[in-house]
Amino acid sequence: MTESRRPKESATHIGNHKLDPSTLMMGYGFDAALSEGSLKPPIFPTSTFVFERAADGKLFFEGITGRRPGAGDGLVYSRFNNPNQNILEDRLKLWEDAEESLAFSSGMTAITTLFLTFVRPGDVIVHSGPLYAATESIIAKILSQFGIKYVDFPAGATRAEIDEVLVRAKAMGNVSLIYLESPANPTNALVDVEAVVAARAAAFTGGASGDDSWPPIAIDNTFLGPLWARPIDQGADISVYSLTKYAGGHSDLVAGGLTGKKALLDKVRMIRNTMGGICDPNTAWMLLRSLETLELRMSRAGENAAKVCAFLRDHPKAETVGYLGFLELGSRQKDIYDRHCLGAGSTFSLYLKGGEREAFAFLDALKIAKLAVSLGGTETLASAPAAMTHLSVPDDRKAALGISDNLVRISIGVEKAEDLIADFENALNAI
Ligand SMILES: Cc1ncc(COP(=O)(O)O)c(C=O)c1O
Repeated sequence: MTESRRPKESATHIGNHKLDPSTLMMGYGFDAALSEGSLKPPIFPTSTFVFERAADGKLFFEGITGRRPGAGDGLVYSRFNNPNQNILEDRLKLWEDAEESLAFSSGMTAITTLFLTFVRPGDVIVHSGPLYAATESIIAKILSQFGIKYVDFPAGATRAEIDEVLVRAKAMGNVSLIYLESPANPTNALVDVEAVVAARAAAFTGGASGDDSWPPIAIDNTFLGPLWARPIDQGADISVYSLTKYAGGHSDLVAGGLTGKKALLDKVRMIRNTMGGICDPNTAWMLLRSLETLELRMSRAGENAAKVCAFLRDHPKAETVGYLGFLELGSRQKDIYDRHCLGAGSTFSLYLKGGEREAFAFLDALKIAKLAVSLGGTETLASAPAAMTHLSVPDDRKAALGISDNLVRISIGVEKAEDLIADFENALNAI
């Protein structure tokens, strides 16, 4: 970018004091002088950008196409870049202290573009299971049509089990991506990222990050990120987000993000920019607004969930509550939680005594919580996975994953906890 258009560097420190992402969300990456002194970034609804000189156009294209990496990082065309999406990416990476972030039109666009970047016909994807249903479909139903193979291990697997799966995967072909999701939906089982990192180091000796023989580890961090889990700290290369959830946080947008190593995300950017799938300026702007309150919203939702779960656990009509705050001391899951998590989140499973009839009676009686799928919004949502999100999952797999008819999935919002408890108590009484 020519000097006159380059935003001035935003401070990340005051002296030796490192500023927290929650503070930096108010202005990081935005230079008011480039927008007539506007305190907040305007929305830039433009498809293309005017070059000051022909030579700039050449320079920017050399940078954006990778012909001469780093040649110029100017604004070119909104399928490649745009000020709102640039600021959003600059802010997203702060939450995990990452080198780079990329923004996408949806979580699934981020995930699909990631796969298209790293896997080729004949390659093998190793993944934890279960994954979000659409991610499983991309791997098992779509990528398989292009000769891509996959093998999975259960989310709570031990180091020895992961080692065994990697041996099996290597015998099937070139392992080009390790893809995790933690906690798994709807089981809430956590993946031991540190064990996966160690297993990769043992299975691919001599490799190094960026080598084709060294599969990147990507992990869907939608459920706990970015406040309650930072898998990059445990050695993951890329953290994957449906920004539709906690980052967007108001159930009014759809977007996705990848955060992690620059060398890897540069490769993903090339595919995204060619294929399309970048986050549009309006959505990016809404996300900038949402990120300013991310910590407040997630903290409040987390505190609410702890209170609501404590109430539900003791209720006679509840069988169990699958909440990360209730992991058994001394269990392997609790050990992973203590090493990997900074909070128990606000999305959990409530198993009611009974079956579908009881689950539906409970859901139909809710007055504050809304009966809808999705999570991470300011409002509390509740749904029945067996009859809704996981309806098409075969019965034996449903049974193995604990997706029973009496399961209600709940995402707690930022309402007053006491009102939510009153709502749940009333609904339980209606069963
Ligand atoms: C864990 C997880 N990953 C990915 C996605 C897909 O995100 P999006 O709906 O933004 O495409 C979802 C959506 O529910 C999700 O729950």
